[in-house]
Amino acid sequence: MARIDLTNAKRAKNDEFYTRLEYIEKELKYYKPHFQGKVVLCNCDDPYESNFFKYFALNFNALGLKKLIATCYNGSPVSGNELLLDFGDTIDDPKKIAYKVEITEVADVNGDGAINLSDIAYLMQNDKNVISILKGNGDFRSQECIELLKEADIIVTNPPFSLFREYVAQLVEYDKLFLIIGNTNALACREIFKLFQEDKIRTGYTNFNVGMYFNVPDSFERFHHIEDGKKIARVSTSCWYTNMPVTKHNEDLVLYKHYSPEEYPKYDNYNAINVNTYTDIPCDYDYEMGVPVTFLDKFNPKQFEIIWRGGDIEWAENECAFYTPPTKEKAEQYKKLDNTWRIQNPYLLDKEGNAHVVYQRIFIRRKR
Ligand SMILES: C[S@@+](CC[C@H](N)C(=O)[O-])C[C@H]1O[C@@H](n2cnc3c(N)ncnc32)[C@H](O)[C@@H]1O
Repeated sequence: MARIDLTNAKRAKNDEFYTRLEYIEKELKYYKPHFQGKVVLCNCDDPYESNFFKYFALNFNALGLKKLIATCYNGSPVSGNELLLDFGDTIDDPKKIAYKVEITEVADVNGDGAINLSDIAYLMQNDKNVISILKGNGDFRSQECIELLKEADIIVTNPPFSLFREYVAQLVEYDKLFLIIGNTNALACREIFKLFQEDKIRTGYTNFNVGMYFNVPDSFERFHHIEDGKKIARVSTSCWYTNMPVTKHNEDLVLYKHYSPEEYPKYDNYNAINVNTYTDIPCDYDYEMGVPVTFLDKFNPKQFEIIWRGGDIEWAENECAFYTPPTKEKAEQYKKLDNTWRIQNPYLLDKEGNAHVVYQRIFIRRKR
C-alpha cells in the first residue's frame, strides 16, 4: 500500500509543473483568429494559479471569446492548500476545493478591448460570471467535466503528464480543437504517434525540443533556480501539441541534397536508407527512409507520408514490408554490441561489418 502511495505521489509530482505566461503568449499569438466567438475550456487549471486562465481572462475581449471555463482538480497529493476558497462552509480537514469558473463577460474598463485585471474577485463582481463548487474532484474524466468539454470549442492547457495519453484520447473522442503542452517523450507512444501519422495532431509554433521553465510547488527538492521566491524547474523535452492549423506543417521542407549509396547507407534489417538529420533528406529518393523524431516538427503531410516508427516489433514483424529480420547469428552480433539491443531497432553496419543501433527513427516516404 505504502509503495502504491509513493508511486502515486511520484507520478503526481511530475504533474505539478505550472506554465509561465510568457510561453502561453508566445504560442497563442499565432492562433488569434481561431478564438473569435468560441468557448474555451482550461480543464486542468485552478483559476487562481493558472496562467492559461489568466491569459484568456486578460484577452477575453481582444480574442472575442464567447465564454471561458476553467476547472480545478483537488485530487493531487502534492498540490498546496493555499488556494482554499471561502464558500461559506467550515471545513475540518482543509483541502483544496474543486470548482469551476465560467466567464462570459469581462468589463472593458478602458474601452481598449483589454482588461488590466485577471483577478477572480474583480471578474466575479459581474453577474454574468459564475463560480461554483464541482460535485466531484475536478478530474477531467468525470461526467461533469465531460459535460463542460462537450460545451467547449477549444481546449487549451498543460495537462498532467502522467495522464497525457488518456487526456489526448478524450479530446479526440469528443472531436475537440486543442492546444496543449506535453512532453516530447509522448511521441514514443503508439497512440500519439498514430495521430501524427493520420495528421490529427501536430507540433505548435514554438521550437520543438528547446525546453521550458515551469513554476513548481515549494515542496519540490529538485529545481533549476529560484525566481522571486518561487522554485522554477526546467523540462528540456516540453513542446506544444495541437490539431489547429500551424503554417510550418503546410510548407515543404526545402531539400537540396542528392542521394548516394555512400552517404545514405541502408539499414541491415530494414530496406530503408538512414538520414541523420531532416535537413539531409535527399530530394531525389522516393523510397523508405529512416529520419530522426525531430522530423515531426517539420512534417508536411502533403510532402511526406509517415510509414511508422522504428523499434516496434509488432509492426516490424507483422506489417512492415521492408523489414528483414536478422539471422540468428546477426541477432547475436547485435546483442553483443549493444546491451539494450532489440532486433527491431534499425541497425547500420560499419566497414568492419559490425552492427550499430540507430535509435529514435521514423520511417517516411516522399509524396512529391
Ligand atoms: C502540468 S500541471 C499544469 C497546471 C496548469 N494547467 C498550468 O499549465 O499551469 C497539471 C495539472 O493537472 C492537475 N491534474 C492532475 N490530475 C488531474 C486530473 N485527473 N484531472 C484534472 N486535472 C488533473 C494537476 O494537479 C496539475 O495542477
